[in-house]
Amino acid sequence: MNSSAGLWRISGFILSINTCAAQRNGKNEEEEKLRRLEERIFRHILKEYPEFATHLGIHDYDDELESFSLEAFERRKTDYESILHEIKRINISLLSTDARRDYKILYSYVKTYLDGFAWMNYGDLNPLNFLDKTSRDQTWIYTAKYRNEEDYEIYFKRIAGIPKKVEQQIELMKTAIRLNRTSHIVSVSRLPEVLSPSSVQAPYYYPMSLEGVAKSIHRDKWKEIRYRIQDVISKQISPSFKKLKRFIEEEYIPATRPKEGLYSLENGLNYYEACLKWYLGYHMTPTEIYNLGISEIRRIEKLMKQVMLKVNFHGTPKQFFRHLKNMPGFYNSTVSEFLDGYHDIIKRRVNPVLFKIFKEIPLKEVSVVGVSNDAPWGSYGKNKFLVNIKWPEERSTFTMLPLTLHEANPGHHFQVSYSKAHSIPSYRRHFVSGKYYSVPLALPTYATYMEGWATYAEYLGEELNLYKDPYELFGRYCHEIFRAVRLVVDPGIHAFGWPRERAIDFILNYTEFPRSQVEIEVDRYITWPGQACSYKLGEIKIKELRRKAETELGSLFNIKEFHHQVLRYGRMSLDVLEDVIYEWINSVKQMADDARSCAAAVSYLNNRRALSSFMIIVIVSLATHIKKLLLLNPL
Ligand SMILES: *[C@@H]1O[C@H](CO)[C@@H](O)[C@H](O)[C@H]1NC(C)=O
Ligand SMILES: *[C@@H]1O[C@H](CO)[C@@H](O)[C@H](O)[C@H]1NC(C)=O
Ligand SMILES: *[C@@H]1O[C@H](CO)[C@@H](O)[C@H](O)[C@H]1NC(C)=O
Ligand SMILES: *[C@@H]1O[C@H](CO)[C@@H](O)[C@H](O)[C@H]1NC(C)=O
Repeated sequence: MNSSAGLWRISGFILSINTCAAQRNGKNEEEEKLRRLEERIFRHILKEYPEFATHLGIHDYDDELESFSLEAFERRKTDYESILHEIKRINISLLSTDARRDYKILYSYVKTYLDGFAWMNYGDLNPLNFLDKTSRDQTWIYTAKYRNEEDYEIYFKRIAGIPKKVEQQIELMKTAIRLNRTSHIVSVSRLPEVLSPSSVQAPYYYPMSLEGVAKSIHRDKWKEIRYRIQDVISKQISPSFKKLKRFIEEEYIPATRPKEGLYSLENGLNYYEACLKWYLGYHMTPTEIYNLGISEIRRIEKLMKQVMLKVNFHGTPKQFFRHLKNMPGFYNSTVSEFLDGYHDIIKRRVNPVLFKIFKEIPLKEVSVVGVSNDAPWGSYGKNKFLVNIKWPEERSTFTMLPLTLHEANPGHHFQVSYSKAHSIPSYRRHFVSGKYYSVPLALPTYATYMEGWATYAEYLGEELNLYKDPYELFGRYCHEIFRAVRLVVDPGIHAFGWPRERAIDFILNYTEFPRSQVEIEVDRYITWPGQACSYKLGEIKIKELRRKAETELGSLFNIKEFHHQVLRYGRMSLDVLEDVIYEWINSVKQMADDARSCAAAVSYLNNRRALSSFMIIVIVSLATHIKKLLLLNPL
């Protein structure tokens, strides 16, 4: 480390002789301003979303709850306008290359959020649905501190705010009813069950059960605490959730919008386009997305048919699904066969080959954990690949590999581990999730970056020759076509008036999933307009950037470095990622030019024999060093 830094110092001198530009790296005042703004945003997020702060283990706001009042919306808007004003006062020409990239990411983040205010009184009016955990996000209860009486006082202060928060949410929903901007019935029909008293109240008892804490608090005091918790739950929390449930059942559900799609709302098509823009970072019309979806389906279906021919099957993918159901080995696996199987795929098949296309491998390994719920087949969180083991006999084994690549390595686990390993500003490390109902008036979460990467990771399996037989390759295309189908169905529903049934029938043609699962899928698209497009569109964008880099750089292109650049700075908007990759392409070209002129200098100085042999060694080693930096060792 030290010796290479030393080399750079000498090299700076030589490079300037050879008119090779040297990169200035010192922090300056403008950069300080940028860092302060990044920090200010993170603080702002913690303060505005105090439950999220608790969840992160930051306990400065443990006594507060997120506000759903109109004043809170106004305050956030004013604060972000002031932040944007400060951002614009930074003199970009004084920033280093790295800082300029961070500036762009920050600007885009703030601008995206502020643009969302044009859609105030749309999604934000409907904070409750079966997917976002707005009212029932109680994970903070398990991460709050309970060490002494003061901590319990803080807990009481927070839960005393619940009735007010529920009132604010009801107020928003009443406005939605008045403005005819409610959700569709499928988004809320499961709510009464979800809001059943036993399930919403139970977590609030948790702090009463901490016997270890009880020992450090006086016996009488502990008794009082337990009594007060029960009292608050029965006199405040319970009536409040009952009221919410009744409101949903008696007022909101009868007033839900009759059509599934956003097109049916006032200015609904523009609203849908704003949702798409929020997810993508760039503009695409519903028609463009729809057409892209159709052409992707055609392309992937052709590949599926090629694979089917290899095993001598003539028919549609749908018929092949049925055929596979009756073949031995693809269904009817047990839970432990699944869990062991996934573990095995990661350990024996995927991990050993990743070094071929990545220069860094996460140290923290991903573990495979079984869960049982109505959620998707697989998901990822906190170093865990969560495998849905409900109905194991209905899950296919030929789709296990693409699911692993997507959720674990080199998909989500890789991407999240990368952002943890590299220093990036806090506001880009921790994202407030669970607010898709409010899009485009929501802080960016960059689902398109995340899901685009994970979907691209499924494709990488092909480059790594991981799909070992026609059936597994078919499984890969099953995954891919499922994402392409969403590009048709999402605009279908929200822009072109497709009813729910039509969307379900369309999907059933291209998937092995049972109808019940597809229904939940479609209800999700209805509830989160645009979100479903992020997978395929993100993947297409990343592939497009890669092709661009390959074409521009030719033999200088290095796949490890490309992946490093995509992952290195964490989540961002894909239009900014495009900028990041273009700048990287230019810097590689620039370095190649520098290396060439330095090599020329070496031969010039050699001929003159005017230089001590010491200097020649320095220059030669410098050239080697630059070459190493360029990583001229493609796969
Ligand atoms: C930004 O910095 C450059 C370089 O010092 C200077 O020429 C320019 O006037 C500055 N711009 C503003 C708006 O201050
Ligand atoms: C809402 O819809 C109803 C019935 O279609 C209509 O009578 C009413 O004027 C609408 N209200 C608004 C604010 O658009
Ligand atoms: C899977 O199990 C079901 C029910 O137990 C059975 O009907 C079916 O034939 C089995 N399929 C295979 C391929 O073994
Ligand atoms: C399902 O696929 C078949 C053949 O691939 C096609 O003819 C039919 O129109 C499709 N159905 C729907 C609802 O798209």
